[in-house]
This record gives sequence, C-alpha cells and structure tokens, in this order.
Amino acid sequence: MRLEIPQSAKNWVSLIGAMIAFIAFFLILFLFIISSVTGSGGTYLGLITFILLPGLLVFGLILIPIGMLISHKRKLKKENVWPVVDLNNTSHRNALLIFVWGTAIFVLLTAIGSYEAFRITESVEFCGELCHSVMHPEYTAYQHSPHARVACVECHVGEGADWYIRSKLSGLYQVYSVTFDLYPKPIPTPIHNLRPARETCEKCHWPQKFYEYKLRTEYHYLADEENTKWTIQLTMRIGAEHSAHGLKEGIHWHINPDIEVQYVAMDTARQIIPWVRFRDLKSGEEKIFVDEEISLEPEELAKYEVRTMDCMDCHNRPSHQYNPPALFINKAMAGGEIPVALPEIKAQAVEVCDLAKDLPTMEAAMSFIDSTINAYYQENYPEIYESNPDLVNQAAEGIKKSFSKNIFPDMKVNWAAYPNNIGHLEFDGCFRCHNDRHSTESGEVISKKCETCHFINAQGTAENFEVARFGESLEFRHPVDIGDEWKELLCTECHTGLAP
Ligand code: HEC
Ligand code: HEC
Ligand code: HEC
Ligand code: HEC
Ligand code: HEC
Ligand code: HEC
Repeated sequence: MRLEIPQSAKNWVSLIGAMIAFIAFFLILFLFIISSVTGSGGTYLGLITFILLPGLLVFGLILIPIGMLISHKRKLKKENVWPVVDLNNTSHRNALLIFVWGTAIFVLLTAIGSYEAFRITESVEFCGELCHSVMHPEYTAYQHSPHARVACVECHVGEGADWYIRSKLSGLYQVYSVTFDLYPKPIPTPIHNLRPARETCEKCHWPQKFYEYKLRTEYHYLADEENTKWTIQLTMRIGAEHSAHGLKEGIHWHINPDIEVQYVAMDTARQIIPWVRFRDLKSGEEKIFVDEEISLEPEELAKYEVRTMDCMDCHNRPSHQYNPPALFINKAMAGGEIPVALPEIKAQAVEVCDLAKDLPTMEAAMSFIDSTINAYYQENYPEIYESNPDLVNQAAEGIKKSFSKNIFPDMKVNWAAYPNNIGHLEFDGCFRCHNDRHSTESGEVISKKCETCHFINAQGTAENFEVARFGESLEFRHPVDIGDEWKELLCTECHTGLAP
C-alpha cells in the first residue's frame, strides 16, 4: 500500500525535517533501551538522550509545517486559493491521522523525557562536573565538606517552581558565558540571587533547634626549626549552658526569632561594617552600634542596603571552604601526611604554597612545589636529603595533596578570594562587629572579650601545657611572645593565612 499524503508536504524542507525527526527519534529510543538494559550511562548520556536529541526531534518536527507553509505560500501567490481540508480525501485523512497520533505519542514521551531532564539538571554531577573547569573548585571543596551528601540544588535552588525557573534562566546565561569564556575568575560572591537561608538551611537545621557547647581541639605547628607543636582546646559556646535556656545566650543567640540583628556593609564581600542595630522584637528595646573609626553622615549611610543577619552571615562557606596555607598545612601535619620530623617543614610548606598560588595552572603549581621543596632540602639539609629521601618526597606529596584541595590557580580561587566569616584568626569574621569599636551613644560596645564566645580549656606545648579547671577558662597565651598586642590589635593585622 502506498501512503498518500498532501501535495504540500512533498517539499525539501519538510522532507529533511521529517528525516531529522525520524533519526532523532530512533536514536533516543536506542540510547534509552541501551541505558535501561545496561543500567549505565550517567549524566552525560542522559543529557544527550533527554535534552539534546529531543531538541533535535522538535526542530525536525517544526521544519515539516514550515516547509508546508512555504509551498502553500507559493501556491497562494499563483492561484490565490486557500488550502481546503477535506476528510473525504485520503491524503488529507492520512495527514490528520499522522498528526493526531504523532502528537499523542509525542506528548506522552515528552512527559517521561521532561521528568528525566528535570532529574538530570538537578543532579550533583550535572552541577559539579559538566562545566568541569568552572565548577571544579566548588565541587572539590564540596566533596570534602560536611555537606558532601547534600545535593547542590538543596542550597542553590530549593523547593518550588519559581526558584526552579529562576535558576534555569540564570543557568542558560551561564552556559552562554562558559561557552564564550566570558565568566569572571574567580566567580564573585556573595551570590545575590542565592535563595535566603531561611528557606534552604532551615529546612534541615531549624533555628529553634538547640546546639550545645562544642569542643574544638586545634594543633598548630610553629614556623621554627623543630615545627614546635602548639595545642589549643576551646569550648565553643554555641548555645546556652543548659538547653532549657534556649537561644537566650551563646553564639546562636543572633538567630533567636525574638530578636533581630541588622547591619550595613560598605563592600560587596560584606567585610566592612560601619553600623549595627540590635532589636528585641518582644520588648521593643533597640541599640544602635556605630564604628568609631568610620564616621558616616546619615545620608551616606542611607545609600547602603540594611541586611538582617542570618546563617549565611557567619556560615558563608558551609560547603566550599578554601583554607589558607597556615591552616591546611597544620591539618596535613596533624594528619601525618606531611612528616613533622622534617626540620622547618611548616615554614617552607607555607611559603611554597604562597608562591605556587600565583602560577597559571595546577600542573605548574604541582611541579613547582616538587622542585622547590627538593631543592631546599638538597641545599640546606644535604645529610637528611641523602640518608632519607623518602621523608622529603612524602612532604612534597603531602603539600601537593592539600594544596590541590584548597587552591585552584586556573580559576584564581583561594582563601583570599573567599573570606570565611566564622572565627577571627585569618579573616575578621566575628571581629567585623565584635571589635570593641562599635559603640552606642551611651558607650556600650559589641564585645571582643574572649569568653563571650569560647572558653579555653587547655593550651601550650607538650613541655609547657596548661589545663583549666572544669567550667572555667584560661587566659589566652599567644604561642609566641608578642606582649599585649593580641589584646589590642585584630588577629588579622598579623595573621593573613600565611606565615605572620
Ligand atoms: C550546604 C549548602 C550548599 C551546597 C550543598 C552547595 N553549595 Fe554552593 N554555595 C553555598 C553558599 C552558602 C555559597 C556562598 C554564598 C555567598 O557567599 O553568597 C555557595 C557558593 C557557590 C558558588 C559561588 C562561588 C563560591 O565559591 O562562593 C558556586 C559556583 C557554587 N556554590 C556551586 C556549587 C556546586 C556545583 C555544588 C554541588 C556540587 C554546591 N555549590 C553545593 C551553599 C551550598
Ligand atoms: C538537605 C539538608 C541540609 C541542608 C539544606 C543544609 N544542611 Fe547543613 N548539614 C546537613 C547534614 C546532614 C550535616 C552533617 C551532620 C553531621 O555531620 O552530623 C550538616 C552539617 C552542618 C554544619 C556542621 C558542620 C560541621 O563541621 O560539623 C553546619 C555549620 C551546617 N550544616 C550549616 C548549614 C548551612 C549554613 C546551610 C544553608 C546554606 C545548610 N547547613 C544546609 C544537612 C543540611
Ligand atoms: C553569629 C554567627 C552565627 C550564626 C548567625 C549562625 N551560626 Fe551556626 N555556628 C556558629 C559558630 C561559631 C558555630 C561553632 C563552629 C565551630 O567552631 O565549630 C556554629 C555551629 C553550627 C552548627 C554545628 C553544631 C555542631 O554541634 O557541630 C550548625 C549545624 C549550625 N551552626 C547551623 C546554623 C544555622 C542553620 C544557622 C541559621 C539558622 C546558624 N548556624 C547561624 C555561628 C553562627
Ligand atoms: C553584624 C554584626 C555581628 C557579627 C558579624 C557577629 N555578631 Fe555577635 N553580636 C552582635 C551584637 C549586636 C550582639 C549584642 C551585643 C550587646 O547587646 O551587647 C552580639 C552578641 C554576641 C554574643 C553574646 C550573646 C549573649 O547575649 O549571650 C555572642 C556569644 C556572639 N555575639 C558571638 C558571635 C560570633 C561567634 C560571631 C562570629 C561567628 C559573631 N557574634 C558575629 C553582632 C554581631
Ligand atoms: C565574637 C566571638 C568571639 C570572640 C569575642 C573571640 N573569639 Fe576566638 N573564636 C571564635 C570562633 C567562632 C572560633 C572558631 C573558628 C572556627 O570555627 O574555625 C574562634 C577560635 C579561636 C581560636 C582557635 C583558632 C584556631 O584555628 O586554632 C583561638 C586561639 C581564639 N579563638 C582566641 C581568641 C582570643 C584570644 C580572643 C579574645 C581576644 C577571642 N578568641 C575572642 C569566636 C570568638
Ligand atoms: C603582632 C602580630 C600578631 C597578632 C596581633 C596576633 N598574632 Fe598570633 N602569631 C604571631 C606570630 C609572629 C606567630 C608565630 C608564627 C609561627 O611561628 O608560625 C603567631 C602564631 C599564632 C598561632 C600559631 C600559628 C600557626 O601557624 O598555627 C596562633 C594560634 C595564634 N598566633 C593566634 C592568635 C590569635 C587568636 C590572635 C588574635 C587574638 C593573634 N594570634 C594575634 C603574631 C601575631
């Protein structure tokens, strides 16, 4: 039997369209069966099966009526008659049947396909791996974070159709900027269209949940010949002393729903804070703290946005933390990846990371670390280099490993580009407000008193170790003698993440 179709469909454009659609359809079917049977494929194959090929299919289908339209137009010009749909005509009937059945099957497949497409664009691999070089730093840091099992979209998109569409629209622009290499390096933060913490973080960590005191033990290795180990143990006062007190005191007091802390920042990274307002929403009490060193006129102040403090003002790096060398080298030494027995290794490791971060690529940084560390020990400690070359090798490997988790030269990503607001040692963090400089008219300040936030339980070297009585705090002893400067200056005036 010969299938009769309308004359107008017999043109090159429609024919090519039909062929494209036909081929795309069979490829989709073929890939779908292959990936279902073998259970393999993953995101890349899914992207082809459910996004690229269906796009091609639709393109082919659209070409068919376009071709028909063009050929009709020609006829219209010549004879000035409009087409007539006549169901008694076999070719017209066939065309209608093909159209109705085709549409029905297509709609059904689209339903399955768009669900698959939705699933793929929401997957961690799609976000983290597909734009490999761009997202490499975020993806790597993410895999080493406490949120390694939380999907990117849980924080970056959240629930609901409006945020889904918003994120896909900005995603389209991102695909364009990546394709033409227009995106900024490093990617700027804070992200201004990030969904508010209230709607993302608080799905899993609700603010009323009580967190108790938390113990933190840190090992530091000093930049001397012996890499002297300095231990410090702190009790972090996250909540109140007893859970019955709720959020009335402690660090998480800032997110107590009964109070509100607002501030104004003068820079996009929110590091310079000239004005802070505390309000008790129940009693109506209000305090305004102004930085004594930055005096702004009211009109000037009014130009800036007033932001209400939430989780992100402290936990701004919950899943992409880029540590500074002073910190990640300490960690690698504590973990045994860099041998503590190698003289001067702390100082050398921090220095080589500082120099390597400015090289253009990760490969260049890796070989620079290798050659610099080897050359240094060959020249300055020849007896160790000869008798125990493994020690030097192990050190270089350890430095490279922790470097590659924290510094990404290709994307210009490192600690300095992304300040972490928790703490106060390498970034001002809490000391942006808690610096004894922000005061009310009556002279009250946002306190820098060490015991506001933590108790020091123990500190010192193995030979000279102090331990506090239970529930009390030691006075801080700075690892090297700098007099009272640690009380008077901000830590960041000497500590920048490198050797101070
Ligand atoms: C626990 C929540 C969370 C998860 C999970 C998460 N992110 Fe983020 N992400 C954030 C926050 C918070 C920021 C910083 C926002 C700011 O400073 O404004 C951020 C920032 C970013 C940035 C901007 C650059 C930067 O480093 O600040 C990129 C890109 C990014 N995330 C990609 C990803 C990718 C890809 C994944 C999944 C592999 C992911 N994120 C998973 C919370 C998350
Ligand atoms: C989908 C659920 C989910 C979301 C959304 C989420 N988290 Fe988490 N978060 C977790 C889990 C699970 C852990 C790990 C708990 C553990 O290790 O005991 C965690 C741990 C943490 C920790 C403790 C880290 C540590 O070192 O132990 C912090 C802080 C934190 N989250 C902050 C945030 C912030 C800020 C956001 C919003 C940007 C957020 N979380 C969003 C599930 C989530
Ligand atoms: C004023 C700053 C600040 C704000 C605001 C804040 N946090 Fe924290 N949070 C901290 C500090 C500091 C710690 C202790 C970190 C450490 O040293 O381990 C902490 C600890 C945590 C922990 C880990 C507790 C544990 O036992 O390990 C979670 C989870 C957490 N915060 C979630 C949140 C969430 C969710 C929000 C927003 C609703 C929030 N935080 C708001 C400063 C803050
Ligand atoms: C935007 C400014 C700002 C930042 C940043 C900030 N705080 Fe505060 N904090 C305040 C204000 C305002 C108060 C209330 C001061 C007062 O009323 O005397 C306060 C009070 C506190 C208190 C005492 C709560 C109580 O009454 O028991 C603790 C603890 C605290 N902050 C910890 C932190 C920690 C830890 C960080 C950093 C992770 C931090 N803060 C960052 C503004 C800030
Ligand atoms: C406003 C709250 C706050 C105040 C005030 C404060 N700290 Fe801290 N401090 C923190 C937080 C939060 C951390 C934990 C940082 C982190 O999670 O990495 C910390 C960590 C530390 C550490 C450990 C750093 C490390 O990596 O080993 C030392 C030491 C320290 N503080 C000393 C001090 C001293 C000394 C003072 C008083 C001059 C002080 N702090 C005042 C909040 C505070
Ligand atoms: C006047 C400059 C100065 C100030 C201010 C200062 N420090 Fe230090 N700090 C040093 C020097 C110098 C060293 C020794 C560096 C080394 O040997 O690695 C050091 C070392 C340390 C170490 C061990 C370092 C490591 O690499 O692991 C800690 C912890 C520390 N300081 C905490 C603090 C804290 C907390 C503050 C603020 C309350 C502070 N310091 C303020 C100069 C300073």
